[in-house]
Amino acid sequence: MTRNAADRPAAVPRHVAIIMDGNGRWANARHLPRVAGHNRGVDAVRRVMEACVRRGVEYLTLFAFSSENWRRPADEVSTLMRLFMTALQKEVSRLNENGVRLRVAGDLATLEPELQRRITQAQALTEGNARLKLTVCASYGGRWDMINAMRSLLAADPSLANRPQDIDEASLAQHLALAFAPEPDLLIRTGGERRISNFMLWQLAYAELYFTDQLWPDFDAVSLDAALAWYAQRERRFGRTSQQVGAPPVPAPVAPA
Ligand code: FPP
Repeated sequence: MTRNAADRPAAVPRHVAIIMDGNGRWANARHLPRVAGHNRGVDAVRRVMEACVRRGVEYLTLFAFSSENWRRPADEVSTLMRLFMTALQKEVSRLNENGVRLRVAGDLATLEPELQRRITQAQALTEGNARLKLTVCASYGGRWDMINAMRSLLAADPSLANRPQDIDEASLAQHLALAFAPEPDLLIRTGGERRISNFMLWQLAYAELYFTDQLWPDFDAVSLDAALAWYAQRERRFGRTSQQVGAPPVPAPVAPA
C-alpha cells in the first residue's frame, strides 16, 4: 500500500460502500461448503482494501453482516462470527502497519462479548491512522441506524420532543453510526441482485449505484477499477439540472469527527 488519499484525482470517489454478495453461490458452484465462499470473501476484502489505498479512496465501508442475517441458519451465523473473530485477530496488525483505521458500525451489543472486546481493541489500536478509513458494518441495518440515531438525538436533548420542528437533517445525521464519514459517492453491489437491502438508507440518497453479476470472492482490483471507471463517467447532479452542474454541487453534510 503506497498511496495517500491526498493523491486522489477528482473523479475518484472519496467514499466507496460495498454490499459483498455471492459468497454462498461461489461455494455452491464448486460443491464447497458456504464457509469456503466466506473465507474467499475475506481474501477479496484484503485485495479491494489495498486497491482502494492505491487509488486514493479515503473511506471504504463494507456490509459484512446485516440485521437480517441473524435469520440465517444458526451454524452459518456462528461460522460467520468465528470468521470475523479470526479475521480481526489475523489482520489487525497488518491494517495498522498499513495506516488503515478500522471501525465496526452496527448494533454491537448483539455480538458475542469476546467479539465486542476484540473490536474495541482493534479500533483503539488503529485510531491514529488516516490513510484509509475502513468501516465494517456488522449487525447493521439502515432502518436500525435511523431509529437509533433518533433515540440518541432525543437522549442528547430531550426537549426536542416538544419542539420537533427543530429536528433537521444535519442534527439527525450527526447521530448515525457513520456520522464520522462523508456520504458514500459510490455503492457497489456484487452478486447480481439490484437492491440496497437495508444498507445505509439515509446516506445512499445521492450515491451512484453500481451493480455487477460478479460474485464477491471473484471481485478484485481489476473489478474495482471497472467500477471506478464507470463512476468517473457519471454526472452527479444532486437534484439540479444538467445545465446547473457546472456550478459547485450541494455539499453532503459531514458531521465533526
Ligand atoms: C453475502 O454472501 C456475504 C455475507 C453475508 C457475509 C460477508 C462476509 C464476508 C465477505 C467475509 C468477512 C468480511 C470481513 C469484513 C471480515 P451470501 O452468503 O449472501 O452469498 P449468496 O447470496 O451467494 O448466498
